[in-house]
Amino acid sequence: MNILVTGGAGYIGSHAVRKLLEAGHLVVVLDNLSYGHRDAVPNEIPFYKVDLKETDRIEEILRKHNIEAVMHFAALISVGESVQKPLLYYRNNTAGAMSLLEAMERVGVKRFVFSSTAATYGEPEETPIFETTKQLPINPYGRSKWFVEQILRDIAVSDSEFGFVAFRYFNVAGADGSIGEDHQPETHLIPLVLFAVMGKRDKITVFGTDYPTPDGTCIRDYVHVNDLVTAHVLGIEALSNGDARFYNLGIGRGYSVREILDAAKNVTGQEIPTVLGSRREGDPARLFANSDKVQKELGWQPQHTNIEEVIASAWHWHTTHPNGYQEPETSSLPK
Ligand code: UFG
Repeated sequence: MNILVTGGAGYIGSHAVRKLLEAGHLVVVLDNLSYGHRDAVPNEIPFYKVDLKETDRIEEILRKHNIEAVMHFAALISVGESVQKPLLYYRNNTAGAMSLLEAMERVGVKRFVFSSTAATYGEPEETPIFETTKQLPINPYGRSKWFVEQILRDIAVSDSEFGFVAFRYFNVAGADGSIGEDHQPETHLIPLVLFAVMGKRDKITVFGTDYPTPDGTCIRDYVHVNDLVTAHVLGIEALSNGDARFYNLGIGRGYSVREILDAAKNVTGQEIPTVLGSRREGDPARLFANSDKVQKELGWQPQHTNIEEVIASAWHWHTTHPNGYQEPETSSLPK
């Protein structure tokens, strides 16, 4: 299939590009490089530095490459920032997806894979979380994605040839050798823990130790990025006319922050400089998925269910790329 990947220079998008190429698809990448890294995309595939709001440019790209399906990763991802700058999130995540969908409509591209999020559930009313669990997002980030889910449902009703799958991600982690996570700024637990071991940060702060969980810290469901993108390949290959599919992507088991720290200590063989802090606003105590639906319907089977293995793959990436995609400062010679 000829597939356009938006956000293909980002953390998850770049892993998806690699997996799609391995599966024999033709891939074209679109990314505005506001957060993505050109070096995360193989040189031999077509790359366009284009923003989602450039509907006409996207239309041209879709036509030029006879695109049959779109995998849409490009989005802003920081919950805290979304609370400060809601319009930025609605413009990028919601209006951006609408612009892309409009370009697809003009050209007649009928297959769409969407990166949604567990944040669309908000404070879930049950755990594990099922696809049928009530969605009540509690911040603009979650709502910006939830709106796109609703738009997709409406498009599927209006056009019987359209088919989409929306994956609701839990906590994505790990890396695949020469590509990995490089967010600026980094806010996620696992990279920050590893940065503390590497001395890139002086410590990790545990956000809250008084949650109603066995050890008092928050529980999350960490899914390896390669498992996550494998589901996307299965999804895009399974789509047919009229599909409106929603799947949780998590491994169905939660780990607390303390368990992550213990696992990171085992993986790195080093003490983690840790400080116990207060709660971060908006953090639900426990989030983990029931992902039976995607396993049953797409035959997805996560391969990396051991948290130490997930952290080890991230550790490998960070220690081999201590500055992420940035070249290390090579010269201290005067200019
Ligand atoms: N945490 C710390 N210290 C830190 C960073 C995180 O204790 O320095 C804790 C958090 O409080 C949370 C857990 O580690 O309990 C995981 O935090 P992350 O920031 O890594 O991830 P989140 O669970 O907050 O968010 C992730 C995605 C979001 C998505 C959300 C949906 O990053 O984009 O899952 O569940 F919205």
